[in-house]
Amino acid sequence: MSIVIAIDGPAAAGKGTLARRLEEHFKLSKLDTGLLYRATGWKVVSGGGDPEDPDVAEAAACALDPVELSNPDLRSDAAAQAASKVSAIPGVRAALLDFQRNFAKNPPVLANGEPAQGAILDGRDIGTTVCPDADAKLFVTASAEIRAKRRFLELQERGLDAIYARVLEDMKERDARDSGRSASPLAAADDALQLDTSNMDADQAFAAALDFINAKNLF
Ligand code: DC
Repeated sequence: MSIVIAIDGPAAAGKGTLARRLEEHFKLSKLDTGLLYRATGWKVVSGGGDPEDPDVAEAAACALDPVELSNPDLRSDAAAQAASKVSAIPGVRAALLDFQRNFAKNPPVLANGEPAQGAILDGRDIGTTVCPDADAKLFVTASAEIRAKRRFLELQERGLDAIYARVLEDMKERDARDSGRSASPLAAADDALQLDTSNMDADQAFAAALDFINAKNLF
């Protein structure tokens, strides 16, 4: 049986960075599950559809091809908002569940051809719904203001025009939708380590996660 690590939390809390470092450290295969929702939402809006229309969104999720996950447009805020909308639709979540569970159970080989020691999945409902039996669960958070600031700086670094107040508003809107939906809302599993990164840098968050995982003697 291979090891499964689940990382959940709201947008821009530091999940992605932490997942990448753990992926490398423990030689795991990583799945950024937000990309599945982004690709579904993007497919709908770029075809002129309504991401809140359950039939259209579910059809897009069912037709998803893994090659679509590398589309750079998925990083845009438009894709993030579309993702947050399609992800509230139960049929979309159901359509994407098998792919995620299969990845966790049969992690693909690493880029260097070596077998993976396990899988690491990051998202909103990995520890609660997708992999409730994961070997280690982390719930990464930070205040909305800090997360909006990180996102704002990232947009500026990418040379994109951004207004902090607007980024904060979008962040709060997405948080409310992700936490308030009835289908697998953003939530911490009871047995997850809660990691508030508001006053931590990436190294400190990584060290705290390592302590928690190493104490489980999984590897
Ligand atoms: O992590 P992200 O910003 O790429 O996620 C985009 C949206 O996808 C997010 O607003 C909610 C949704 N999502 C989800 O509902 N469940 C997941 N496991 C991952 C993402």
